[in-house]
Amino acid sequence: MAERVWIEEISDHEGEEVTLYGWLYNRRSSGKLHFLQVRDGTGVIQCVVFQGDVPQEVFALAGGLSQESAVQVRGAVKKDKRSPIGYELSVSHVSLVNESPDYPIGPKEHGVAFLMDNRHLWLRSSRQHAILRIRHEVIRAVRDFFDDRGFTLLDAPVFTPNACEGTTTLFSTEYFNTRAYLTQSGQLYNEAGAMGFGKVYCFGPTFRAEKSKTRRHLTEFWMVEPEMAYCDLEQTMDLAEAFVTYVVQRVVDRRRRELETLERDPALLERVQRPFPRISYSEAIDILRGKGNETTWGEDFGGDEETVISAEFDRPVMIHRYPAQCKAFYMKNDPAHPELALCVDMLAPEGYGEIIGGGQREDDYQTLHGKIEAHQLSPETFQWYLDLRQYGSVPHAGFGMGIERAVAWICGLKHVRETIPFPRMMERLTP
Ligand code: 4AD
Ligand code: MG
Repeated sequence: MAERVWIEEISDHEGEEVTLYGWLYNRRSSGKLHFLQVRDGTGVIQCVVFQGDVPQEVFALAGGLSQESAVQVRGAVKKDKRSPIGYELSVSHVSLVNESPDYPIGPKEHGVAFLMDNRHLWLRSSRQHAILRIRHEVIRAVRDFFDDRGFTLLDAPVFTPNACEGTTTLFSTEYFNTRAYLTQSGQLYNEAGAMGFGKVYCFGPTFRAEKSKTRRHLTEFWMVEPEMAYCDLEQTMDLAEAFVTYVVQRVVDRRRRELETLERDPALLERVQRPFPRISYSEAIDILRGKGNETTWGEDFGGDEETVISAEFDRPVMIHRYPAQCKAFYMKNDPAHPELALCVDMLAPEGYGEIIGGGQREDDYQTLHGKIEAHQLSPETFQWYLDLRQYGSVPHAGFGMGIERAVAWICGLKHVRETIPFPRMMERLTP
């Protein structure tokens, strides 16, 4: 076999004869010329087949290739100013690896439901490559951020007996002679980790049986969650702000081309710099009232409220100290205002909604025991979690960021469904 060259590295091979291994993205012909757009996953390049340069049967083959036929193309790499990647291939040979008759996704516009049904093929398009490469960059940045700061990666289990984020969104499954839930969050295990390792993070898939069909909810999504011992609400907000700034600027630095493909203005991302505004829940209520929104004190915010609040700021905003009644059982109450929880939500700008939820955890045994009962959870199942308050309990805090929400915002996508290779939603289990 000839030396394999990837399209993204084509500039290293100017003037050489190379072989590309890929698929036909598009084709047009004019007289003695066929113009093949060939993709190999790393890029798309125009391959020019001139009748005079190839055997007759190769010219005929090139002129009959259909979209997504698997092909090997050999030719000389030439500089070409008009091409988007700056090079084209002057073809000496084309061979067909396998045909692709009637490929369902053509260059014309398709509806979202059709594209979602064909997600396994839709992944071949340039736009999906841009989104999923940005997702990859976000994940690399997430890991680098915590790894470089001495956090230990401690993976949390997927099967768990504990409801972390309320009992209404649990997926449950048979587990031998008992029942298990699919994890909603690794937080509770992270808290054990933080007491052992000081600062930890987990990163993995989490599950919620979300019955709402919104543009922000998946039933399976990836969450990164740091947790630190001897840490309070303010310190976890500092961390969240540094973290989001780092992740966004990494994408701006390294994925400019992909942002361009998505027509996402990098200037909107470049201004994501610390400090982020911090407002209390009560101040957020005042903003809402000022805009004619009648949310009553005590309710959690929905997507509409989040959009109104985030419109006031040019970068993410952190809202802290929600009423304890609308938040999870594990949150510590504010000693100065016991009706408030020491929690924080970070809202992305431009109406992309909540990307981070977190806060300081209840660290007193009796208080936590009471909260578990008040939320009608079973203290036996949470005994191991209560143990953490028996043996050297300390203030601790952390947060979770949903990768798909963050990627949707960074890419400027209104819906989270394209931010994960195979989205899972209430009405979507296939492909
Ligand atoms: O606010 P949430 O529910 O917080 C927790 O799970 C905490 N236990 C995290 C922690 O403190 N360690 O979820 C955190 C984030 C949300 O801000 C959002 O980005 C994402 O997870 N998220 C979802 N993303 C997609 N689809 C869903 N159904 C999501 N639910 C939450
Ligand atoms: Mg939340």
